[in-house]
Amino acid sequence: MKFYCELKKMVDNSYDIETGHGLCDVLIKDLQEGLAGRVKQFAVVTDDNVEKLYAEPILDKLFAAGFSADMFVIPAGEKSKTRKMKEFLEDSMLEKGYRRDCCVIAVGGGVVSDLAGFTAGTFGRGVPFINYATTLLAAADASVGGKTAVDTPLATNLIGMFNQPKKVYIDIDAWKTLPENQISSGLAETIKHACLADEELFCYLEENIERVFSFDREVCEYIAQKNCTIKYRVVMSDERESGLREVLNLGHTVGRAIETVSDYRLLHGEAVSIGLIAQCLLGNRHGFISKENTRRVADLCRRARLPVEIPDYISRTKLVRKLYTDKKVRDGKLRFVFQKEIGEMMCFGENQYGLNISEDEIADVLSKWE
Ligand SMILES: NC(=O)c1ccc[n+]([C@@H]2O[C@H](COP(=O)([O-])OP(=O)(O)OC[C@H]3O[C@@H](n4cnc5c(N)ncnc54)[C@H](O)[C@@H]3O)[C@@H](O)[C@H]2O)c1
Repeated sequence: MKFYCELKKMVDNSYDIETGHGLCDVLIKDLQEGLAGRVKQFAVVTDDNVEKLYAEPILDKLFAAGFSADMFVIPAGEKSKTRKMKEFLEDSMLEKGYRRDCCVIAVGGGVVSDLAGFTAGTFGRGVPFINYATTLLAAADASVGGKTAVDTPLATNLIGMFNQPKKVYIDIDAWKTLPENQISSGLAETIKHACLADEELFCYLEENIERVFSFDREVCEYIAQKNCTIKYRVVMSDERESGLREVLNLGHTVGRAIETVSDYRLLHGEAVSIGLIAQCLLGNRHGFISKENTRRVADLCRRARLPVEIPDYISRTKLVRKLYTDKKVRDGKLRFVFQKEIGEMMCFGENQYGLNISEDEIADVLSKWE
């Protein structure tokens, strides 16, 4: 006997992204108005830097509004984005009596949202989650798009799932407590967005990048909005990365590899900065970008206080080998996406943005870094 189990379904994963200054009260009001359905128990996941700054005030307001909530704190940093830490969160939630009728609120940067989002996606076969983003990098990239993941010793983000949040809050005021290198790290993803989709944003950054470090309200608001617009447009047209979404990996083939080989001494954005320059140098060889525009990208990264060269402690041989662990490797071939001058992406056929690059060529570019 044979049965056909028909399970076609239409899913509406739409959600709001709100940018603003101090959005705690907006979050509580949204919850009172049913953002998470009838859920009354909230798991606030954060790290030990963000705990006192932003997670505790949110917890207090949840209590004051009559919700039941607990805080789950992980050690800050990329090294917490592991399967072990996911297990720790799951066990801690189970111990506190959390079951399927709960909601996870991620309060922090990309590490917290990737880990908490993945945990929410599998806890009780999936519970709702909300992102309250407190870093520029999360605002620029990590909080929007629904990609969640953990790292493994082999490479970053290899294990995870698409899990869209109920809502994303981008609290620009929170950037004021970020250390300078974290601002720079977020600017790397901002520069990436400008390179791949928005020449106007690139020129704006060329004029104003220093003003981000003094938290100029107008500049910060502008880049928060621009980043979201670019990212959600791409995600809306290709949620599951079957084509266009691949462009968001600009600079990430080398970036992710270098982040792992550096054993996370380089922040994500710092590694992406080096990766952006790598694809420019490679792209220049192929005629995709001029020398002048390559120089502009490097200059902007430098002014964002980002590294533009591969640190000496990184072995070029290890780095090239590490490129093969990238998720985008297909049939064992190294795959890159390239910007077309500034503000556009190279397209190599219908819905084809990746190009196979030989190991010899990338090794040559890495060894002759100019
Ligand atoms: N899911 C995606 O689409 C996506 C996209 C890009 C990056 N990422 C991931 O995001 C991660 C990097 O994000 P990140 O840079 O936000 O990392 P993070 O979460 O580690 O935050 C960076 C540091 O800043 C601290 N911090 C956070 N907010 C703060 C604040 N307001 N004031 C003071 N300190 C604060 C954190 O404790 C941490 O030490 C990486 O794991 C990367 O893989 C995911």
